[in-house]
Amino acid sequence: MVNYKDLGLVNTKAMFAKAITGGFAVPAYNFNNMEQLQAIVMACAETQSPVILQVSAGARKYANATILRYLGQAAVEYAKELTGGKGLPITLHLDHGPDFDTCKSCVEYGFSSVMIDGSHHPYEKNIEETKKVVEYAHKYNVTVEGELGVLAGVEDDVKAETHTYTQPEEVVDFVGKTGVDSLAISIGTSHGAFKFKPGQTPKIRLDILDEIVKKLPGFPIVLHGSSSVPQEYVKIINENGGKLQDAIGIGEDQLRLAAKSAVCKINIDSDGRLAMTAAIRKYFNDHPDHFDPRQYLTPAREELKKMYARKNREVLGSDGHAPEILAAEGK
Ligand code: G3H
Ligand code: 13P
Ligand code: ZN
Repeated sequence: MVNYKDLGLVNTKAMFAKAITGGFAVPAYNFNNMEQLQAIVMACAETQSPVILQVSAGARKYANATILRYLGQAAVEYAKELTGGKGLPITLHLDHGPDFDTCKSCVEYGFSSVMIDGSHHPYEKNIEETKKVVEYAHKYNVTVEGELGVLAGVEDDVKAETHTYTQPEEVVDFVGKTGVDSLAISIGTSHGAFKFKPGQTPKIRLDILDEIVKKLPGFPIVLHGSSSVPQEYVKIINENGGKLQDAIGIGEDQLRLAAKSAVCKINIDSDGRLAMTAAIRKYFNDHPDHFDPRQYLTPAREELKKMYARKNREVLGSDGHAPEILAAEGK
């Protein structure tokens, strides 16, 4: 068992408190390998942004739980190296924790935050499972994200064909009974690169968000499925042998509005996948004789870094907020 504090990580408490008062959201970027992690840390060091490094159950299976835990620790040290010793507020977070045992294992591996995704369960069962995780995680000061409402698309193994929007009437009851530190809600975002059908207006229900904020003022809200699916990447992919049809994401203007209210954490994974794939496909097309992974992973990592830095500045508004969070953490 290792505690996250010994790894130099922070939980989400101070960063969310600052995000609420400062009108920004903390970026929650998924990673599965070293290049993605390097790009995230480089971008956040450049923009002086706090960051939540997200690991899904699938990422743990792909990369190995021990390796990911050491990559999380490496992020802390690398951030110090890039910032003249100051460092960044970094959370290592389990994304879409499927059950109590996975959450417990992550706490034991040094994660500073976990999500228990009980959103596909009936309401009472979601409360029961979430409460169990909160009671365990809080013993170690690890913060917990719960979820109410179901996003359209794929929530891990569970296929939700249509959204079940979060019911504003339920949030006070759910948060009170479970003791979660933050709540993921369903207001029209969805996972993956195909969020809307052609002809559909790509809009999220900011009115439901407002209702929820009225019921729980100052409580940290999380938005999953928040990739914007940049069309320049879709174009590069398709021009270089790919075949992505009707890939549509969430407008960045809507995410900016959400980040200014009680939305404290915005989850982005698919956009990173698109950025890397676009850069690699183009590289392969331009250099058919190259075969050293460092050759094509270098532009892929560079493109990722550029995209994350832009998101921090223009969408999340998290740039420049690292020092005040470090100070609140006594670092
Ligand atoms: O919301 C899910 C994340 O994008 C993680 O995806 O389960 O394929 O790692 P994954
Ligand atoms: P996207 O697929 O929109 O990037 O969402 C990622 C996410 O919600 C991770 O939990
Ligand atoms: Zn998600």
